[in-house]
Amino acid sequence: MILEKQLTWAEIDLNAYAHNIKELRRVTRPGARLMAVVKANGYGHGAVEVARTALQNGAESLGVARLHEAVELREAGLEAPILIFGYSSPDSAETLINYDLTQTVYSPATAEELSDQAARKGKIKIHIKVDSGMGRLGLLLDELAGGISDDRSTANTIDDIAAINGLANLETEGIFTHFATADSADKSYANKQLDRFTDFLNRLNRAGLSPPVRHAANSGAVIDMAHQIKYFPSSFEGVDILLVVVPPVDSDISAQFQFPDGKPCDPAVNDFLAGIPSTINIVVKSHMT
Ligand SMILES: Cc1ncc(COP(=O)(O)O)c(C=O)c1O
Repeated sequence: MILEKQLTWAEIDLNAYAHNIKELRRVTRPGARLMAVVKANGYGHGAVEVARTALQNGAESLGVARLHEAVELREAGLEAPILIFGYSSPDSAETLINYDLTQTVYSPATAEELSDQAARKGKIKIHIKVDSGMGRLGLLLDELAGGISDDRSTANTIDDIAAINGLANLETEGIFTHFATADSADKSYANKQLDRFTDFLNRLNRAGLSPPVRHAANSGAVIDMAHQIKYFPSSFEGVDILLVVVPPVDSDISAQFQFPDGKPCDPAVNDFLAGIPSTINIVVKSHMT
């Protein structure tokens, strides 16, 4: 017997998603901008639909992993800024320009090739990614690069950024990092990454380099480090917020959120966590024949 009907599907509640976006907007610092990360088909929720819903409910920009995901959003008519987090080959320069996409850069050599390929076609907007301890993508901060030699580590991260910033056909719009463990209960490593990133931005600033958009917070950090994000030191004023499709969160989790010193966290954050509805429902149907 061949089964022609699909037996399992996911029903996405866009109203729940819209509610969650509004709630995130409410608990984040006034002035912070919200980027909805909709990579991998919006984490299985349907990239175009959740992107549109996010933008209608308070998100200002979109994040994806790969170039083709960004092109799909543009072709669906979405006009908000789109940042590509992953690698795009320098051959993609023309597509990046034509679709008005923002590319992540984390290697001076690739940046130079991208700039060369962009010549005479236009300028490519970039965000520079630094690795503050995730161990995935990004220019390694100097203090982490000791002993490692790969494309991402050179003696001086600030010199690398100055070189990238000086390329004729790239426009450095932002800089960011990614937390490895912001969704764990133990925030010590996430706090260490945040300290490294803050310190690095200050050093960069003293070297005369201040990319206007600075962002760090993924979902775990938005939800669980909101007190720090809200009360970032003034040197961190420009920090932006990233978020991903909010997964279902158990309402009693809110009781566990505390400052590291044991004080309960901001009541607004607790309210927020308690109010997050699940966005996804997996439906399984059995067809008995
Ligand atoms: C740089 C960056 N920021 C934010 C996100 C969203 O992360 P999360 O799913 O932990 O919210 C991702 C996802 O890969 C990312 O690469």
